[in-house]
Amino acid sequence: MVVFGTRPEAIKMCPLVNELRRRNSIETIVCVTGQHRQMLDQVLHTFAVEPDYDLSIMKDKQDLFDITSNILSRIRQVLQEVRPDVVLVHGDTSTTFVTALSCFYLQIPVGHVEAGLRTYNIYSPYPEEFNRQAVGIISEYNFAPTSLAARNLIKEGKSPDSIYITGNTVIDAMQHTVSDGYTHPELEWVGENKLIFITAHRRENLGKPMHNMFRAIRRVLDEHHDCRAIYPIHMNPLVRKAAEQELSGCDRIHIIEPIDVVDCHNFEARCYLCLTDSGGIQEECPSYGRPVLVMRNTTERPEGVDAGTLRLVGTDEDSIYRNFIELLENRLSYEKMSHASNPYGDGHACERIADILEGKNYSPWVL
Ligand code: UD1
Ligand code: UDP
Repeated sequence: MVVFGTRPEAIKMCPLVNELRRRNSIETIVCVTGQHRQMLDQVLHTFAVEPDYDLSIMKDKQDLFDITSNILSRIRQVLQEVRPDVVLVHGDTSTTFVTALSCFYLQIPVGHVEAGLRTYNIYSPYPEEFNRQAVGIISEYNFAPTSLAARNLIKEGKSPDSIYITGNTVIDAMQHTVSDGYTHPELEWVGENKLIFITAHRRENLGKPMHNMFRAIRRVLDEHHDCRAIYPIHMNPLVRKAAEQELSGCDRIHIIEPIDVVDCHNFEARCYLCLTDSGGIQEECPSYGRPVLVMRNTTERPEGVDAGTLRLVGTDEDSIYRNFIELLENRLSYEKMSHASNPYGDGHACERIADILEGKNYSPWVL
């Protein structure tokens, strides 16, 4: 059984669901928690995945208690009815943690996809760092995307026999999304100007840090006539309120509804640079050689920083402003960051995971 509930989990698990469904020896059941609704359904539609179970837990402005208690109480019956041989969860969301906890209570084996990412700061990202460490205690199969993630797990005492280096399934998803002939009305609006691609949603950034980010972005856009920013905004009403307060009336930014993953990857591939606090986008942009200013204080994805494509700029207004300006005005700095690299995978992660579950030999992914 594969369980997921938010947009990024769906983007990274749907290619795996489709791979597992191609394997005759495996019966694959999909359960979504519906932690996200519209943003999840958008991805299910893109990958043509129809869930067998949908817990439909999302409510407006849900807090961590709401998500945790609603999944915990609703998933028990599904797990008891299906009694899966193994449950696959992904990454670090509340869906991931609560599903793994429920499996532990019922003594059902857990496989953790995207295992071993760490900042070792339990509040950053919050609550994700706790979630992934907690799942790491429970999981029997650990599908680490990179050798660094695998090393983290070994340092924590996980048995090497439970760890498989597979690459990240998002790189598999990206094999089918970006195309040369792609067009979109928003890209026509950008025209010959520099496309600045923006996303923001982290729970620990809600409030002052998010206002800082938007203010810095606004200052730069007001000063730079050759930039056009596209910001597909998260559906969290708290994010929307902050964006409305800080960015409304700026005609160099288009704030649009969440876009389909195909659009998102094509926008990323064509942008001049990206400003984000997202996890997944830190993995995607390096493949296209697009510099990313990561508006966070920590990252669990240091591979992209080492590759030179990601720069951690924190959430201080002046720091974001200075780094953004530097990449617009200093050609050398920009070129240093804009080299394509793929430190997160080779596009065959799903096949490796399916092979492992079928008991076949697999070759670890190495950069
Ligand atoms: C969640 C994950 C985070 C992940 C992010 C991806 C947790 C604790 N957080 O955070 O790790 O990076 O998803 O986007 O698991 N909403 C809608 N429709 C949707 C989705 C969200 O209206 O399709 C609104 C609802 O008001 C909801 C709010 O957004 O209450 C927040 O959603 P939630 O899943 O609680 O947190 P995220 O910040 O999205
Ligand atoms: N994404 C998308 N549409 C959007 C914004 C993002 O499809 O409007 C994709 C993006 O390409 C990446 C994933 O969503 O694959 C990242 O999700 P998010 O930032 O919500 O979560 P995180 O990765 O931070 O957990």
